[in-house]
Amino acid sequence: MAPFIVIEGIDGSGKGTQAELLRKRLEGGGVDVALTFEPTRGPIGRIIRDHMKDPFLDDRTLALLFAADRIEHIEKEVSPALSEGRTVISDRYAYSSIAYQGQTVDPDWVGVVNSDALRPDLVVVLDMGSSEVRGRIEGRGTVDCFEEDLSFLEGVRDMFLSMSGGDHLPENLMTRFLVLDATEDPEKISDVIWKSVTSISSP
Ligand code: TYD
Repeated sequence: MAPFIVIEGIDGSGKGTQAELLRKRLEGGGVDVALTFEPTRGPIGRIIRDHMKDPFLDDRTLALLFAADRIEHIEKEVSPALSEGRTVISDRYAYSSIAYQGQTVDPDWVGVVNSDALRPDLVVVLDMGSSEVRGRIEGRGTVDCFEEDLSFLEGVRDMFLSMSGGDHLPENLMTRFLVLDATEDPEKISDVIWKSVTSISSP
């Protein structure tokens, strides 16, 4: 089975850039890649994005919607690509649910509702402080409901770090973690990710 790689981190930590650099590198070596993301562009992803602009859902409802959107993502995009032998890179996955929804809802319950999600082979966490991402987020123009609150993002960051040590993870989400300093040069970060990906692809 081809590898399933997840890139996580707070908003503005450079996930999209790293996902794209990794895709180019893999494709340059002749590897077929499917680059995906959550929330998806599917019907549940659309409800989530509407909520993020102007919140109207209960926090637990939102956590369940993210989990439902993830099932759609796995069934319609991730699993089919992996069975065709394509390497999947996902910009966000279940770890975002535990980190973000886990700020206001019991993170262990969020783990439970994600306890049948497909296990990735590698989770890259792009670690950065909320004050460092402020400039990057503001530079984009539009901010979602989570991006506005830097202390909330600091809690999200802490949760990503504690998950990398195994906390709050259901069994299916335990895997290899690579925590990287997202303030480093993007090319340098990409080199480290590349090394880790090549080591899982050719064990
Ligand atoms: P993001 O990756 O920033 O998408 P976009 O680039 O389209 O804005 O994700 C949108 C927001 O969704 C982001 O603030 C994190 C949040 N999120 C959760 O709260 N839980 C989740 O499970 C996922 C996947 C994302």
